Amino acid sequence: MKFLGTFSLPGDKSIAHRALIVCSWYKGNHSIKNFPKNEDVLTTLEALKLNGLKYVFDNNSIHIDSTKFDFKESEINCNSSGTSARLLCGYLAGASIKTKIFGSDSLTMRPMDRICNPLNEFGAKIKSSNGFLPIHINYSSNRKSFKYDLKIPSAQIKASLIFYAMFMNGRSSITGSIYTRDHLEKLLRYVNYPIKQKESAIHIKGCDRISKNLNLELCGDISSASFMIAGAVLLKDSAIKIKKVCFNNYRLGFFDKLIAMGANISFSNERYICGERVADIEAKYSPNLKGIKITLNDVPSIIDEIPILSIVALYTKGITVIEGVNELKIKESNRVEAIIHNAIKMGGSIKYKDNSLQINPKNKLYNATIDTFNDHRIFMTFFIANLVAGNKLNFNLKDNSYKKSFIEFFDILKEISK
Ligand code: S3P
Repeated sequence: MKFLGTFSLPGDKSIAHRALIVCSWYKGNHSIKNFPKNEDVLTTLEALKLNGLKYVFDNNSIHIDSTKFDFKESEINCNSSGTSARLLCGYLAGASIKTKIFGSDSLTMRPMDRICNPLNEFGAKIKSSNGFLPIHINYSSNRKSFKYDLKIPSAQIKASLIFYAMFMNGRSSITGSIYTRDHLEKLLRYVNYPIKQKESAIHIKGCDRISKNLNLELCGDISSASFMIAGAVLLKDSAIKIKKVCFNNYRLGFFDKLIAMGANISFSNERYICGERVADIEAKYSPNLKGIKITLNDVPSIIDEIPILSIVALYTKGITVIEGVNELKIKESNRVEAIIHNAIKMGGSIKYKDNSLQINPKNKLYNATIDTFNDHRIFMTFFIANLVAGNKLNFNLKDNSYKKSFIEFFDILKEISK
């Protein structure tokens, strides 16, 4: 099997969550082209619908009417979407509206204190269940603009705080670990919201919600692209080109690391769509890969791609070490355990010690039934690993976890597998 062809991908999931919330903030009639209808993004959409947002789908676009959007008491089911829960928490605490946020068992195991603590420090009234969902947001008259020194390099915390700041009087600032995906900052600047980054601080001015119509377009999801790119790098005679992929500076770690390993990856046609840099990406079969060392500071830029990068690292010469992987233990599954468990099932050798993964190349893996732990990225990572290990495409799987982020995963595989 090889991957061949040119294609594009549905809009980036991280940007889509943010774009929906921004469309609700401005009262108007909006459209978003290349809108991804994955489960996580639909979760944010349904939450906003509870507050009066109306929408219709039109092929790959969504048309939104937020003229009647207003904050009301609600109970929001965030299903398994951490991004929905965390971004909406900041947004609704900023609006100071009585809300309960709850979710699936897997989401209920993921920490919320990283969001609730700073928001409560700045006057929000949020009660969590010992740092986890369900959380209850209550009305608070003590909300205030803030200066926050962010300690965890998490784009979800940063975006949640920015949404909160939009409702405050005066100017709020975020310093510290702000060098993570900056989709919200870029989008807000694109629609002329007063936010700027000066030296090492983000400054956000609070504003009243005004009327404005937005016409947005989303670039292709860079994390979805990573699965196809890894397959092309590992499958003999492959050559693919993915057009209009999100090329955000803080998410290029996967490409940087593949290139450092010796992979044949190239970029062309760089341009901007709605404030985001995009590029066309070509990936070809790369037989002479070598192991590399990845340090803690690189992790935020590859946070969602570490599972699939670990598979590539099993096909190199020399060991790959990925430091600073503990944050992966609190994603949709404990991804450190899930990667090791499934790699071993396929005959690979990956070890964990002191916050690091050590990947010992095998250059030959064997097909195995995968335990996905209901985690979309583990499903897609090991589906590709099984293809590289010689499996035929099998579309009759009962596990639907990939639909959380990439509904079109199998359609695209069908199109490019030769
Ligand atoms: C996301 C940020 C990352 C990432 C997640 C989506 C976002 O999480 O893992 O899939 O949209 O902001 P953290 O910021 O918590 O690392």
